[in-house]
Amino acid sequence: MNIHIKKIFLSLFLITAVFSFSGCDFFSNSKTIVRISHSQSETHPDHLGLLAFKEYVESRLGDKYDIQIFPNELLGSSVKAIELVQTGAIDYAVASTGNLETFDNIYQIFSIPYLFSSVELYHKVMEDKNFTDNIYTSTEEAGFETVAWLDAGTRNFYATTPINKPEDLKGKKIRVQQSPTNVKMMAAFDAAAAPMSFGEVYTAIQQGVIDGAENNELALTNNKHGEVAKYYTYNQHQMVPDMLIANLRFLDNLTDEERKVFDEAALLCTKVERENWDIQIQEAINQAKNMGVQFIQTDIEPFRNKILHLHEEIIKDNPKLEPLYKRISEISEKEM
Ligand code: GCU
Repeated sequence: MNIHIKKIFLSLFLITAVFSFSGCDFFSNSKTIVRISHSQSETHPDHLGLLAFKEYVESRLGDKYDIQIFPNELLGSSVKAIELVQTGAIDYAVASTGNLETFDNIYQIFSIPYLFSSVELYHKVMEDKNFTDNIYTSTEEAGFETVAWLDAGTRNFYATTPINKPEDLKGKKIRVQQSPTNVKMMAAFDAAAAPMSFGEVYTAIQQGVIDGAENNELALTNNKHGEVAKYYTYNQHQMVPDMLIANLRFLDNLTDEERKVFDEAALLCTKVERENWDIQIQEAINQAKNMGVQFIQTDIEPFRNKILHLHEEIIKDNPKLEPLYKRISEISEKEM
């Protein structure tokens, strides 16, 4: 969306929000407006999951709550949206753990490259309440809590020239999320990290400001990056979920019955998102091939070996991560 239109939209939103906060709630007919921001399009699985969330809450508490979803970074980039949730200007946002890392460093756990040895293990860990509860409710100081996780697949490199082996990354400028760990990871690959918001990536590749980026396959189609980067390499360096985060004050002000409905809606959001994820990822691969994207199957071991030393370094620097890291090993040993 045009940046000027976005700015006008954001200004209108802020004026409305100020009126709501000051008690002049004439825009909402006395219903409480619950605002949710995310950075994807209206066909993306995240949006479909949030629509299910909206329907679930409104079918039970619709006389009191009006759930409004703002897609496409309409309210600002992911980092901006997290800030809006922190201050309570909006109530919920979907944010990648990469972007959450600077708000609470517990989210750094997911940025550790090659943390999960398989997609199955990743899913098992995300369904382990023991693991997730320790993360979700530990961010009080940051002013928000996570209420649901959403699958965001496996992240891989894609660029304007083929990346077949780690050495091909040498000297390349690769966009990463605004995450210090990702910057470290790119340095370990001898590449230059270019942290920027998701919405800026297409133009940055098109104008040659960066050589490529790293993300799941939907970035190629839903966000059209496959138009400007034609080589996608399955090196599988991260499985980084999206989190549905909520403002703490908003959650605390809900009655027990209301909280139950919102929590059930969050679970449903994950379910619907994941069902759509599996379908859309297959479609995205076919669609990207039709766009002329070449998918490169590669040996992941050389990529993994090159940056494995980061595990120890990251855990040593952030003691919060140690029990989480141990729990992943336990699940891996027990279940796999
Ligand atoms: C994925 C993820 C988004 C995130 C984006 C990014 O698309 O679903 O939440 O913002 O990656 O790389 O910034």
